Amino acid sequence: MAAIVTSLRLSSSLILIAAIIVVVIVAMKTDNGGLGQSYRTPDRLTRDKPMVMSGKPWELTHRLSQYIRPTQYFINLHPNLEHGTFTGSVDIILTLDSTQNYIKLHSKGLNIKETVLNSSVVKGFPYSEHESWIVVPDKALSVGEHKLQLKFEGSLTSKIIGFYRSVYTDIETKEQKFIATSKFEPTYARLAFPCFDEPQLKSKFKISLIRPSSNNYIALSNMNQESEEPNVPSNGLTSVNFANTVPMSTYLACFIVCDFQSLEPVIADQGFPLTVYARRGQSDNMKYAQFVGLKSINFYVNYFGIQYPLPKLDLIAIPDFVSGAMEHWGLVTFRETSVLYKESVSSITNKEQVALTVAHELAHMWFGNLATMKWWNDLWLNEGFASYMEFKAINVVHPDWDVDTIFLVHSLQPVQSLDDKLSSHAIVQDVSHPDQITEIFDRISYDKGSSVIRMLEGMLGEEVFRAGVSAYLQRHKFSNAETDDLWAELQAAAQNSVDVKKVMDTWTRQAGFPVVSVVRNGTKLSLTQQRFLADPNAEYSSDVSLYKYKWEIPITYITSNDKIVHKVWLTKDQNTINIDISNAEWIKFNHRQVGYYMVNYSENDWALLSHLLKNNINTLNAADRSNLIHDAFSLAEASHSPYSIALDMTRYLISEDHYVPWYVAASNLINLRINLYYRPAHYNLDKYIQNLLVSLKQDFWNDSNDRNFLERKIRGVILNLGCLVGLPSYQVKALELFKKYLTDKVKPDPDIRSVVYYYGMASGNVDEWNQLWKMYLNENEPQEKVKLMYALTAVKEPWILTRLLQLAKNESYIRSQDYFILLINMGRNPSGSPLLWDFLRDEWKYLVDRFTLNDRAFGRLIPSVCANFNTPRRLEEMKEFFNKHPEAGAGASGRKTALEAVSNNIKWLERHETIVTDWLSNATK
Ligand code: BES
Ligand code: ZN
Repeated sequence: MAAIVTSLRLSSSLILIAAIIVVVIVAMKTDNGGLGQSYRTPDRLTRDKPMVMSGKPWELTHRLSQYIRPTQYFINLHPNLEHGTFTGSVDIILTLDSTQNYIKLHSKGLNIKETVLNSSVVKGFPYSEHESWIVVPDKALSVGEHKLQLKFEGSLTSKIIGFYRSVYTDIETKEQKFIATSKFEPTYARLAFPCFDEPQLKSKFKISLIRPSSNNYIALSNMNQESEEPNVPSNGLTSVNFANTVPMSTYLACFIVCDFQSLEPVIADQGFPLTVYARRGQSDNMKYAQFVGLKSINFYVNYFGIQYPLPKLDLIAIPDFVSGAMEHWGLVTFRETSVLYKESVSSITNKEQVALTVAHELAHMWFGNLATMKWWNDLWLNEGFASYMEFKAINVVHPDWDVDTIFLVHSLQPVQSLDDKLSSHAIVQDVSHPDQITEIFDRISYDKGSSVIRMLEGMLGEEVFRAGVSAYLQRHKFSNAETDDLWAELQAAAQNSVDVKKVMDTWTRQAGFPVVSVVRNGTKLSLTQQRFLADPNAEYSSDVSLYKYKWEIPITYITSNDKIVHKVWLTKDQNTINIDISNAEWIKFNHRQVGYYMVNYSENDWALLSHLLKNNINTLNAADRSNLIHDAFSLAEASHSPYSIALDMTRYLISEDHYVPWYVAASNLINLRINLYYRPAHYNLDKYIQNLLVSLKQDFWNDSNDRNFLERKIRGVILNLGCLVGLPSYQVKALELFKKYLTDKVKPDPDIRSVVYYYGMASGNVDEWNQLWKMYLNENEPQEKVKLMYALTAVKEPWILTRLLQLAKNESYIRSQDYFILLINMGRNPSGSPLLWDFLRDEWKYLVDRFTLNDRAFGRLIPSVCANFNTPRRLEEMKEFFNKHPEAGAGASGRKTALEAVSNNIKWLERHETIVTDWLSNATK
């Protein structure tokens, strides 16, 4: 008997084990959605529940079933602007590819009042850990079509994501006005309506919005308005019905009810209207965006060879907007400062930002909207591509801007200073939790993504690249794709010239990048590669990467012999390659810095390049000059070469007049200055920079009207640097203009306003601060307001900054969208930095409650505030704080970056202070 019981137990536990295995296998299969991605890094999975057998089937994974596909949504939303609430209903037509016992879809923060499946009320309940709603019918659901209907209500006022309320003051009546608007990417459509909120679950959307009938309210959505019904659902309301969309991802849906004004539409070459909207008083300032939009869209249609598939395109400026802009298909939304342009208010940098932002979002109409990544791990296909295409479009809109050179300081160089840390990550990265998804909207996806695409185009040539990209979009239009699908089309276009996937995997599937070391031996050069890390003593195992931290490097170079750009491969399996440069005097690698790698020369070759810049500046173009400065400083910081090489390189700047190399030099000198802030060498560094600036011929304070784009850009760089290092004539001038502004209300030229306000306030007192605060509050122009807000953080008195921190909590003073910008700016002020560090720790709960740990801008606060810490004590404080608050949400990788940056800063002084101090004292004798 006993034996039988045991064997029974045994067999039931065998069944149990078998059941566990099945559950685990199913979980693994569904967790990657069967999309061919496996989750190799276990730590990225820990935020999914451990796969225990006691769990309900819907608890196993964040991912939705791949067998349940929505094909059509019917959405009706009614925002109540006054109350800050909304009600809605959604009918979803589903296709089931296998029988199902339950339906899991997304819903967050919604009160779902009714769940109807195939016309019968069914059981539904939330599973909030996965931001989802579970529908359990009485009996299993068969393969085929089903209809799910939900009624729900929600709040418009919790945050500025999902479906939310934005507020502004009417310019004429001074009344407070409300609008309702939306922003869903990446995981916030579920805040507005229950839905299958994953990018590969594309569907059509038939949308109706209810707006007030009076006060000039209009309703906008992705598609054109088809009809409207006055007094529906009740008196005083109008129901607006939009045309059905093409198949698209949930994150692209957009709903707006507002009382905005528009400009006369312009007609794209293809024939559809492009309309711009903004609040009263601002619509005229949408003219430039409309101009750039029209030129860009015409460019893309032609470049991709694929028509824009919707009947209209709207651009709209939203007073409260969490990011810079968002590419909702047919209705692109912008933060006001990213899209408004007014000659008397906007600086040249504002104009540049508007142009690039508009071009970026419109590139998404193809890259992202038409062909979408299957899952967020390939986000870079959206963001990296749009970030590259924006430069191509603006190169056509403004050929005189030299945007390919600007790309270096906008994207490539800044991201290399993150990607040279152990805490960096590969472009393609596994993600599952919403916090992880938010987190990868980072510089790696955008800037490394666009940089490696630019390198790829350099390899393939412009026409092959265009043909491959166009074929990719054609093949995956109205559908989804993975990184390898892009390589496949580019391979077909390239034929056998290069193995695209083999090369690009080394750049997209491992973190970091190489430094190529060049050693000269007679007429021969030998080239080797190794991973470049900011910390030369950093320890890591190269086995962590499938490619062992070696890259397939497309090497280019020019020499003093001729004007030819030579090309050669340094592959991941070659230890060394040799090239013959016959009797060339100097050699410059990485032509135009198209390659995403650094180059280290021998000391003598560096010196030759340094001389070349000094004696014959125009032999190398501005991109190459910028490249040399950037590499020299990065290599010095990482102890690959002495700082004297980098510093020697700056001597030629007295004859440099291109904005980009000056920008590179200025940012590196400013970094040096931060490292030396409390050290004796600080004095000589400022003196050295002052000497450089006084030798410049141009009077940068003079408001001449005939400066071109690049001359206007360099002006800001030079004036800012001069004021920062306290060049006396600059300080006098800045103060004079600041006083004139305060007393006579005479505003400086828009290009120098930021500098004047900031450095004027830096030496100002409390009366001046109070005056500026009032001006800030009364200011109606968004870009001007941001400049004033920036200046408010410049004051030296800590107590005024503390007061500002308290005032800033009031949303009617500082909008939520601007809150972290203010904090980060304050952290850059040496008087503000320690205050802010205390504030952040003391008020952590306030911050988490207000913004949640899923907030992208909040996640970036810590790396920014701590960026310049350089003492072991601060490092300890950081560790202590992270231990006390282990939940980091979307700030997890930011914390890692911060810790690594600070420990590098600490080592910087030990490693470099002596040599830099000596060089500076010689240079300033
Ligand atoms: N798709 C993004 C918007 C976005 C950003 C969604 C972050 C989710 C998280 C949009 O195309 C974008 O990239 N916007 C940038 C500005 C752009 C000009 C680079 C942004 O908002 O930072
Ligand atoms: Zn984007």
